[in-house]
Amino acid sequence: MHHFQYVQGRLCCEGVRIEDIADRVGTPFYLYSHDTLTRHFNAFHEAFDGIDRLVCYSAKANSSQAILTLFARLGSGLDIVSGGELFRGLTAGFDPAKIVYSGVGKTAAEIDSALEHGICMLNVESRPELELINQRAALMGCRAPIAVRVNPDVDPKTHPYISTGLKKNKFGLTSQAALDVYRDAHRMTHIDVKGIDCHIGSQITEAGPFRDALLRLRGLIDQLAREKIAIRVVDVGGGLGITYRDEQPPHPKAYADAIREGLAGLDVRLVLEPGRVIVGNAGVLVTRVLYRKEGDHKSFMVVDAGMNDLIRPSLYDAHHDVWPVCEAAGRRPILADIVGPICETGDFLSRDREVPDAPPGDLLAVMSAGAYGFTMASNYCSRLRLPEVMVRNDAFDIIRKRQTYDDLIAGESVPDFL
Ligand code: LLP
Repeated sequence: MHHFQYVQGRLCCEGVRIEDIADRVGTPFYLYSHDTLTRHFNAFHEAFDGIDRLVCYSAKANSSQAILTLFARLGSGLDIVSGGELFRGLTAGFDPAKIVYSGVGKTAAEIDSALEHGICMLNVESRPELELINQRAALMGCRAPIAVRVNPDVDPKTHPYISTGLKKNKFGLTSQAALDVYRDAHRMTHIDVKGIDCHIGSQITEAGPFRDALLRLRGLIDQLAREKIAIRVVDVGGGLGITYRDEQPPHPKAYADAIREGLAGLDVRLVLEPGRVIVGNAGVLVTRVLYRKEGDHKSFMVVDAGMNDLIRPSLYDAHHDVWPVCEAAGRRPILADIVGPICETGDFLSRDREVPDAPPGDLLAVMSAGAYGFTMASNYCSRLRLPEVMVRNDAFDIIRKRQTYDDLIAGESVPDFL
């Protein structure tokens, strides 16, 4: 459920017409619905009622300060993967004790910063990383709370680029390797073994893989208990999918039931790291049609947003619905590729499918762009990063300004020896 709906043929975000925002802000821009964000977070959190849990919103899905601040105020924790996300999270007001840190390549400086702020736990992905964390904690005179990320080798049945829990992926450790690392960690003076972690992939649309992953973790948790290594936190990662087209992912409640089942009988705190399911359908990318072009084989609609603004179609062949911002009576959808201004064949927002028949000047909304949209955007071709707008009821606010040409070259310098 989201709050992008037509009222008298005009697409609105909550109580605001999108065309009115475009008049003020120009195009393209990202647009988010405050009520959708709030509703999605609360629905997810409440699905786990009765369980001791900490929902750590995954910053990588959308890390804009306004969005992070909203989730911090709703009581969320934060899943981070870099020092930059830690900085963003702390600036947005997250309690460090609710921050979990995953990722295969944490640097010494990032580990130091996480330890200094007293985050909830670092999810360790390799033995050398564990050793480094132990060393850094020793220098700081503290004990680092850790979980070991286990790679349960289950197939999440999603795009190969976003599968993470298969043996061939770079993430986590096999159960056997994890057991060895736990034994070492247990002996290290500056490590506090707190939990176990896994994250099997993203845009997962069935509950089964989550259940299977948890069952595999159980075996390890039991073995650790026999060795007097107590696991107090089980972090099941993120990954719950959303509807982009016709996918029918489990409702958070059904997902929660699968997790509940997997945890039955354990006295642990549950950590969850949802990203896409909270923000994905709470945002759209609004773009304007610049030109129509008839090729020999295809029709093209050239718009002012490109792959640098939303890379998911190019990178994963991902489907994003495209809706007209103003419905025109009697116009039938047409077969055309919606392409951006970038000099790459991969620069498309939709390909080989029916799209609204929109003449130059019309606005289009690229749906489900709230997750991995702005966060994966780049300045490729020296295109300016887009503004972001948040709507709440009848009001909207520009939560990020459009970049300027001066922003483009800020921080650059030309050496004297030229
Ligand atoms: N936790 C960890 C350790 C992760 O690596 C991720 C996502 C999440 C949580 C959040 O997953 P979510 O609930 O959003 O599925 N750029 C891709 C998605 C990459 C996901 C990377 N890790 C896309 O646009 O589909």
